[in-house]
Amino acid sequence: MNQFKLTQKLTKLFLAFSLVLSVTVFAQEGDAANGKKLFKANCVACHKLDKKLIGPPLKGISEKREREWLYSWIKDNAALQKSGDALAKQVFKDNNNMPMQAFPQLTNKEIDDILAYTDGKEVKKEAAAGEQKVDPKVAIGKKIFKANCVACHKLDKKVIGPPLGGITEKREREWLHKWIKDNNALRKSGDALAKEVFEENNKMPMTAFPQLSEEDIDAMLAYFKVGDVKRVVANTDEKTNVKSEGSSAWMSWIVAIALIALLVFMLFISKNGFLKIVAIIALILIVTYLLFNSLMGIGIDQGYQPIQPIAFSHKIHAGDNKIDCQYCHSSAKHSKTSGVPTANVCMNCHKSISEYTGNGTETEEQLKFYTAEIQKIYEAVGWDADNFKYKENYVEKPIEWVRIHNLPDFAYYNHSQHVTVAGIACQKCHGPVETMDDMYQFSPLTMGWCIDCHKETEVNMENKYYTKIHEELSKKYNLEKVTIADIGGKECGKCHY
Ligand code: HEC
Ligand code: HEC
Ligand code: HEC
Ligand code: HEC
Ligand code: HEC
Ligand code: HEC
Ligand code: HEC
Repeated sequence: MNQFKLTQKLTKLFLAFSLVLSVTVFAQEGDAANGKKLFKANCVACHKLDKKLIGPPLKGISEKREREWLYSWIKDNAALQKSGDALAKQVFKDNNNMPMQAFPQLTNKEIDDILAYTDGKEVKKEAAAGEQKVDPKVAIGKKIFKANCVACHKLDKKVIGPPLGGITEKREREWLHKWIKDNNALRKSGDALAKEVFEENNKMPMTAFPQLSEEDIDAMLAYFKVGDVKRVVANTDEKTNVKSEGSSAWMSWIVAIALIALLVFMLFISKNGFLKIVAIIALILIVTYLLFNSLMGIGIDQGYQPIQPIAFSHKIHAGDNKIDCQYCHSSAKHSKTSGVPTANVCMNCHKSISEYTGNGTETEEQLKFYTAEIQKIYEAVGWDADNFKYKENYVEKPIEWVRIHNLPDFAYYNHSQHVTVAGIACQKCHGPVETMDDMYQFSPLTMGWCIDCHKETEVNMENKYYTKIHEELSKKYNLEKVTIADIGGKECGKCHY
């Protein structure tokens, strides 16, 4: 009898535990990803998170100001000032009376999202992971659009010009090409539609873009057709599954909970000792399985892509210019970490590369943008590019790269072991870095991810570091194939301090 009391207690404990577990798994954050998008689309021209630009830095702003005040400010700060709000006047004065634009189109919910982002809530990568899967033309089109058109157009709303989402269904491709290249010339040629569009938009002139190529324009049209694509990456992460394929994740949880309830019911109703034992064992198995599954997926930041202080592009460096990863991440070979290069490493090349010239496909704006990004290195180290020397007594401002990959402290991972000893290519874990303009976390970096690879990767018997050990191993196990897991790659102590 006592034993049964004990098992009953244990079962209750398990149940309470799995309940807590499922609640934590389902707990969701504010939609910082959407906030990041909105921030990028509306605010980056004047704000950064951690530095003053035209406006003040916005990191943690929601801790400094009331939410209601922030809604009013962001929607229409001029109106707020006129209403006599003292704080609004103060903020305006503190920033040299620089006016901020009004954003009446943003809803409270959207502002909440922006604030979730400025509070530093983690952003799960969305757009770029989507761009990976979608026709690459769409991503290119989006860039060209951002560089040339966002000042006057959005996809879904009228700004200065009309919304352009789905425009390809309303107008012929040829016409759009002509319009975008030189709308004024098109009107002069007597095109009726061109005149009509001009009239409809109060005769606001649109800039001509003769510099855009056929491909550039087609890429943009592809973007107008598809729009901003949501992430469609398949992975086993509970948290993202709840968002993207919510129903199936929910279903399996509902089934599991129903099963547990049934078993508990059996346990209390049944007079048959054997059945009770079966029920207990089944319960323990289910709960262990659920626990294990969620441990394997805990803390995933796959796709994490913060905004960096310099728009450093791996595509331009490691891709277009074929610079070796280890030129910059030189410690990967021989130490635990790979490290991010110091500004001095950048200066090895950028003393002489002060301008971005690209490969001929970029627009004027893009060239200007990237050139300005290079100037930021000079700003950091105090380089006087005109006189080709470092400024005297300059206090260096370290470039504060935002760390992307980060295992919890209790897990041990070593680069040289994987890069040098095992000879694994960086891309195997970090993905196609040489194609990434903005770096993001490609792999889930969960325990399950580490162990899966250890289970399927064979020990490299030709490896000069461990030749002797490896020989003995294959003798000892008498196996043709020895995996990393076989030689200890599954032992807790190898990865946990
Ligand atoms: C055209 C430039 C510009 C844009 C675009 C802009 N801001 Fe501002 N913002 C400013 C300036 C300048 C200030 C400083 C106050 C002032 O002088 O009006 C400011 C102040 C603020 C403040 C108040 C800070 C404080 O200390 O209380 C918040 C909040 C804010 N901005 C949020 C946003 C958000 C969110 C967006 C995007 C939706 C945005 N801003 C877009 C220029 C801009
Ligand atoms: C300076 C503001 C401005 C910029 C920059 C701008 N546009 Fe426009 N655009 C307009 C205006 C205004 C109209 C409405 C027609 C008019 O009044 O000339 C328009 C109309 C259009 C139309 C026709 C819409 C229709 O209903 O047929 C297309 C297509 C278009 N723009 C594409 C672009 C593309 C692509 C870019 C970037 C390469 C761009 N625009 C950049 C202001 C701009
Ligand atoms: C010219 C120098 C340079 C080269 C070449 C380079 N990187 Fe980087 N890498 C950087 C800088 C600077 C950062 C930090 C900024 C960022 O995240 O984009 C970085 C960041 C990273 C990160 C993310 C670090 C973090 O915060 O977690 C990874 C992973 C990475 N690089 C891998 C690679 C791989 C793989 C290659 C080769 C295909 C490569 N890098 C080539 C300079 C370089
Ligand atoms: C081995 C040489 C080399 C090193 C080291 C190097 N760069 Fe570059 N960088 C280049 C080249 C080449 C270009 C492209 C120039 C062009 O196309 O005109 C470039 C372009 C750039 C650009 C403009 C394009 C972009 O990526 O946004 C920036 C910004 C930049 N580098 C920043 C950095 C920073 C920051 C570092 C140090 C972490 C660094 N570079 C290290 C060679 C280098
Ligand atoms: C077996 C998988 C794997 C391979 C191969 C690998 N990395 Fe990593 N990388 C990781 C993991 C895991 C982390 C996170 C480490 C941490 O947080 O302690 C990481 C982190 C990084 C970081 C962030 C800063 C740091 O030093 O931890 C950079 C930069 C980086 N890797 C670059 C590289 C480069 C360059 C290569 C190829 C020379 C490479 N990695 C190969 C798994 C790998
Ligand atoms: C792409 C495959 C791959 C991934 C992913 C991977 N590893 Fe490994 N790991 C290896 C290989 C191959 C070796 C064997 C190196 C050697 O020959 O010593 C190894 C060895 C190790 C060892 C040494 C094992 C021993 O018996 O001494 C540790 C510790 C380790 N990995 C930790 C990790 C951690 C932590 C992660 C996840 C963050 C990880 N690994 C992800 C392939 C991988
Ligand atoms: C190949 C490396 C590796 C081995 C072997 C390994 N782990 Fe882990 N473990 C990790 C990594 C990496 C993380 C962090 C994962 C994350 O942050 O999502 C982790 C996370 C954990 C966590 C914490 C989950 C959390 O974030 O709360 C626990 C508990 C854990 N491991 C237990 C174990 C036990 C018990 C064993 C032995 C059966 C083991 N690990 C073997 C790599 C390993």
